[in-house]
Amino acid sequence: MKKKINVSDARLGMYIDSLCGHWIDHPFWRKSFMLDQQKDLDDLQVCGTKELWIDTDLGADVECTIATDQPPAPEVANQKKVELEPPVILSDEIKRARKIHTQGQLDVTDMFKRVCNNDELRLDRALILVDEIRKSTARNQNAFLSLTRPKNDQDYLCMHSLATCALMIMLGRKMKMDFETIISLGLAGLLHDIGNVGFPDDLINKPGKLTQEEYDIVKTHPVRGWEILNAHHLDNIVLDVCLHHHERMDGTGYPESLPLDSLSLFARMAAICDTYDSLISDSYYRRGISPANAIRQMTKWQEGQFDMTVFQAFVRTVGFYPFGTLVKLKSGRVGVVEEQSKKSLASPIVRVFFSTRVDEPIFQEWVDLSKVQDAIVSVEEADELEEELRIDLRIMSVI
Ligand SMILES: [Fe+2]
Ligand SMILES: [Fe+2]
Repeated sequence: MKKKINVSDARLGMYIDSLCGHWIDHPFWRKSFMLDQQKDLDDLQVCGTKELWIDTDLGADVECTIATDQPPAPEVANQKKVELEPPVILSDEIKRARKIHTQGQLDVTDMFKRVCNNDELRLDRALILVDEIRKSTARNQNAFLSLTRPKNDQDYLCMHSLATCALMIMLGRKMKMDFETIISLGLAGLLHDIGNVGFPDDLINKPGKLTQEEYDIVKTHPVRGWEILNAHHLDNIVLDVCLHHHERMDGTGYPESLPLDSLSLFARMAAICDTYDSLISDSYYRRGISPANAIRQMTKWQEGQFDMTVFQAFVRTVGFYPFGTLVKLKSGRVGVVEEQSKKSLASPIVRVFFSTRVDEPIFQEWVDLSKVQDAIVSVEEADELEEELRIDLRIMSVI
């Protein structure tokens, strides 16, 4: 039987069905769990939540009861309102996104340190971060992502974790998943590579190909990550994504080389988001490829490696010419994709900054290709474009 009780009446041995109040206000990630740790009981008594629901069929009972109805459904309905906030343009969201990103870097770096020191992860902070990223990507899906392109002096693993978190949230939203699932997907993206923490820097950042022996070590990171997260009792989506994000549809992945029918939808989503961000990201030793070329590359692989339906949803999420893609237009103008247009995936909104007709930089403006007589003729890689046009894209604030 489900019973609502005061937190002050909670005892070890009870099965917590749910805590009353907003989940962000208490430190427990798991919705339901056996209260068998003194530390959890101590945290519960001081967290500010006043009431909770227990399930007496699964754990100890108590005499003082407030109610015996069913616990109310979680706060999905309220949160849906947030999803309906009108989208804002990139420049309006970027300030807020920068704050979230800066805090995110601190939280993720702290989390990685805790893994190295065998300390408990601050999942309460991780959840707040995931929710902030969810809200930012709902307002404008590119602002936060634009800040996660690693540069040589930044921490690849931290940036990749933040980017994969945002991509998983965006894909989950596109696939019309519910609020709780989207939060789990975001947390899964944030933590999917946590098993890489603690590997020597010269292994993770080694330029060029790994030896077989080194590759075998790197391939242990999904299992290492799963062990860390399982010890924190994280939910099944987070554990599944951590363990299976390198599995592939054709059975060529690792660590278990799972067959197609054993791969969950969440693992299939993670494989796509993780691969996309790895392809477009700068690392210590190579520059990432154009986002549009990453989509083309993955299109070639999709039948063997990725779930075609999920991949199509992903392309609908980021576009054929995703944010950050450098393009040349029929008019001779050169620009960077900054938004997707509502009308067509193939006609994004481009910020133009150079004209090959006059061979010099031009006044920067936004061109919605779904509304003008101009079109993309080619996708450009940053290095080659800089050499061809004799410009520095970073100095021009293009990337
Ligand atoms: Fe990984
Ligand atoms: Fe990854």
